Amino acid sequence: MKVLVVGGGGREHALCWKINKSPLVEKVYCAPGNAGIKDIAECIDISATDFEGLISFTKENDVELTVVGPEIPLSFGIVDEFEKEGLKIFGPSKAAAQIEGSKVFSKNLMKKYNIPTAKYETFTDLDKALEFTKELDTPFVVKADGLAAGKGVIICNSIIEGEKALNSIMNEKAFGEAGDHVVIEQFLIGEEASFFAFTDGVNVLPLESSQDHKAIYDGDTGPNTGGMGAYSPAPIAEGLHDRIMSEIMVPAISGLSDEGCNYKGILYAGLMINNGEIKALEFNCRFGDPEAQPLLMRMESDIVPIMLEISEGNLRHSEIKWRNGSSVCVVMASKGYPGKYKKGFPLKRLSNIETCDDLIVFHAGTKLEENTVVTNGGRVLGVTSFAKSLGDSIKKAYVAVDSIKEDGLIFRLDIGKKGLA
Ligand code: AMP
Ligand code: GLY
Repeated sequence: MKVLVVGGGGREHALCWKINKSPLVEKVYCAPGNAGIKDIAECIDISATDFEGLISFTKENDVELTVVGPEIPLSFGIVDEFEKEGLKIFGPSKAAAQIEGSKVFSKNLMKKYNIPTAKYETFTDLDKALEFTKELDTPFVVKADGLAAGKGVIICNSIIEGEKALNSIMNEKAFGEAGDHVVIEQFLIGEEASFFAFTDGVNVLPLESSQDHKAIYDGDTGPNTGGMGAYSPAPIAEGLHDRIMSEIMVPAISGLSDEGCNYKGILYAGLMINNGEIKALEFNCRFGDPEAQPLLMRMESDIVPIMLEISEGNLRHSEIKWRNGSSVCVVMASKGYPGKYKKGFPLKRLSNIETCDDLIVFHAGTKLEENTVVTNGGRVLGVTSFAKSLGDSIKKAYVAVDSIKEDGLIFRLDIGKKGLA
């Protein structure tokens, strides 16, 4: 069978790699893909939001399953458009994807279905929002309702900072319409973890735990990014698996169903864990990037039958087999990221490492220019390793990072370290 993966980041490289391993799959396409994906899939020059183009392509090429990586096409309704044409696609509908696309929707869902989360209020009126911040202890968190490329969340340490954040989001429209509505919530302390489950809206199949490293600098300092590295499993979530399922994942999925938006795909919960107390920070309607890279490297079961069953609305798998060991992904990003950075730097040292199932350099922002791989985005590479222990996996990833690093690339030196403590 032929499969199309939509997207072109590190997560999509990992998805193409995993899907390619399925004995059911004869060919993988990726739209638009990147320079690394080109080695394992046929990249086609169609944007992830050109639904008409993607639908024509799948019909003309007898693609049997389409798998969507990023949140933007999901929030714009790619699944609804494909299903109207009778095409199989893995991902939630536009209505269900609101769980990521609207923080107001998501927080209200959590409240209604008793999912533990930070106390909050929502506002469309700037003056009322400003008034509310005076009632809160600091720090508090201001969030733009809509998608804002991970930048719409501002932690405020004073009322003045709150005023600045609200002005920038609601008045100056720093994130456009995404800021018409805001959530203001209590700041939570603890350690973050990521949790994922496959679901057809009724049956829920959890993945193993993982942890992202959101901040740009070592020791979780500096501004937040899309994720500078991840590892799996994450000790912080060990022993909490059943409670994460019963307190967070299952109520969210059945709540969505009760609201009339059955969720099909992979649901991502961003969690804050503090002394055994679990709270949901947010939900996303897709795999995490970079969490997908270590999770997929560890996943032993074939992913394709699971995705097919979900796209047909009938998830029958009740178990996933995992490689027993640890996987780590160290992200190498362009100097300047998550702020301004330049593109087009050649990556000349990639051939220094030989990749295998225990060591892969997943590409994110890369492209081919006259046969040379050059940087083409903020996050550039995700060096992903597997070993029996977390310590060995970290060592293996950093040996590889050292042998391919370039002057224009930055990376954290402490990915996975929290898991060793
Ligand atoms: P979100 O997109 O809502 O997950 O927010 C992005 C990041 O902001 C999270 O991964 C946390 O690091 C941080 N964050 C969001 N909400 C809170 C909160 N209530 N308390 C502490 N940190 C938060
Ligand atoms: N790793 C964070 C995200 O995918 O949103």
